[in-house]
Amino acid sequence: MRITSAEFVTSAGRMEECPPEARVEIAMSGRSNVGKSSLLNSLFRRKNLVKVSGTPGKTQRLNFFLVNGEFHLVDLPGYGFARASGRARNEWSGMMQSYLQTRRQLAAVIQLVDCRHEPSREDREMVQWLVDERMPFCLVATKIDKLGATKVEPAIRGILRELELPAGQVVLGYSSHTDQGRVELLEWIGEAVKTATAG
Ligand code: GTP
Ligand code: MG
Repeated sequence: MRITSAEFVTSAGRMEECPPEARVEIAMSGRSNVGKSSLLNSLFRRKNLVKVSGTPGKTQRLNFFLVNGEFHLVDLPGYGFARASGRARNEWSGMMQSYLQTRRQLAAVIQLVDCRHEPSREDREMVQWLVDERMPFCLVATKIDKLGATKVEPAIRGILRELELPAGQVVLGYSSHTDQGRVELLEWIGEAVKTATAG
């Protein structure tokens, strides 16, 4: 698919603040700092539509973007941010759970893991949840520009093995700095939207 337009819709701190439209939604999930917001900017080919910061835990709300006037991409708060206070952390994870479990228009998830790191306990839990719920998802290994070209494939295979995912699982390497993986991910998103719309 091609992205012809992308616009910020709203930022939700509570479920009631999520957009009421029944548009198909695809959510970006992953630990804090894995590169969710950067990846959205890369998809949109916009430098700053989505706020990126060197400070982990920056995205504390669900941010909704309308793509091609048709569907929403949702930037979820990153998990595993140790410096957030216990209370703030519980609030996010509470909302994340509500969103993931009750949002009917959520059609698919883009699950990000850093290509250089072993999946964390939270990565495993999230992936397990996606599998258990039969939620369609694309696993994306981010920041592949930080690995030498020959190291990318073995790193991705290692991550698949550690997450105990079947060989048929869709997995892509991505660099938001070089846009590597962009065409493939857009293809996957287009298919996911089409399937959800047809269903
Ligand atoms: P939270 O909002 O805290 O959950 O983080 P996030 O997952 O949205 O990460 P974000 O996009 O803010 O990126 C975190 C840091 O990683 C920033 O300093 C980015 O510049 C850097 N980064 C993101 N993607 C890439 C990439 O593909 N390559 C490289 N080299 N750095 C990246
Ligand atoms: Mg972010």
